[in-house]
Amino acid sequence: MKPPLVVSVTGAAGQIAYSLLPRIASGQVFGADQPVILRLIEIEPGMKPLAGVVMELSDCAFPLLESIEATSDLDVGFSGANWALLVGSVPRKAGMERKDLLGINGKIFIGQGEAIERNAADDINVLVVGNPCNTNCLIAMKNAPGIPESRWHAMTRLDENRAKSSIAHRAHAHTRDVTNLAIWGNHSSTLYPDFENALINGDPVSKYIPDRAWLEGDFIKDVQQRGAAIIAARGLSSAKSAAHAAIETVQSLREITPVTEWHSVAVASDGSYGVEKGLICSFPTRSNGKIASIVQGVDLGAFGKAKFQLSINELLEEKAMVSDLLPK
Ligand code: NAD
Ligand code: LMR
Repeated sequence: MKPPLVVSVTGAAGQIAYSLLPRIASGQVFGADQPVILRLIEIEPGMKPLAGVVMELSDCAFPLLESIEATSDLDVGFSGANWALLVGSVPRKAGMERKDLLGINGKIFIGQGEAIERNAADDINVLVVGNPCNTNCLIAMKNAPGIPESRWHAMTRLDENRAKSSIAHRAHAHTRDVTNLAIWGNHSSTLYPDFENALINGDPVSKYIPDRAWLEGDFIKDVQQRGAAIIAARGLSSAKSAAHAAIETVQSLREITPVTEWHSVAVASDGSYGVEKGLICSFPTRSNGKIASIVQGVDLGAFGKAKFQLSINELLEEKAMVSDLLPK
């Protein structure tokens, strides 16, 4: 048996975690031969429901689940963590933008960043899911200066999957035929799903969908607003699809991305495409199995550049809103 990986998950009694945890424990995320230790982190009011989640996980008798620790102590929760999935934070309600959560959720990520730096394993990788995920990730990263910026990620894979599904539906294709569909910018209503560089069976999307007005209009708007549409329908934010996107994000980061493909994840900008260094921004990325690099030389065109700029501007605004949470 391989030595176990330590996976810390915050918000472990929440609805995303309810879909996510059994898939981690069953080997779907880290491999069918990879034992895992789960460290499940909640705030005090979440500890009782978390006890029920732990009972259920135990009752699954997963062969790869080495042990479970449920805690509200961040030092215990991130102890020896190889992966930290930061899901815990308040979801928005109908009528809110994700950045309206910054005042409630932003400060959580100071203590989490500090505790990760103090306690995690040297090879720690972090994925932030809790909203607004880009700026929460920025706060955690800046409060953990000893951890390389390349280890910090925020989730835009759900937006990529939504965009793929929408394009496939319109083109009468299958989602598996749609590739290279990158999300640029923020996980918010300004995100830009780049249909111009996306491919269907290796061909430009325009070959299958000549209706440019739809691509520039309803397609983008629907992807930007899909989270809100789910909240309106369910009365709760997306959970199953969010958990699935988190799993695919981790898998893509741990696998070598084929040279012809890319996937979306928000990473610390290295200055590529004119984005301020250190800003947590979604780009097309390729992983070498350990680190995701921003794919260079993608031509966004005038339309895409203008859309991307709007999202960069919003990220800069969010950064300014949380300046008191970022160490100088
Ligand atoms: P939820 O309310 O069901 O669960 C959140 C859990 O987090 C609760 O159990 C709560 O007690 C816990 N929590 C709150 N503060 C915490 C803290 N400081 N430490 C540890 N745990 C804490 O919410 P959910 O549906 O699971 O969503 C979680 C977050 O994920 C929300 O912010 C939501 O907006 C976000 N989200 C992001 C994406 C994305 O694509 N990035 C997709 C869906 C949801
Ligand atoms: C989503 O995209 O479904 C999540 O970010 C939840 C939300 O607030 O939209």
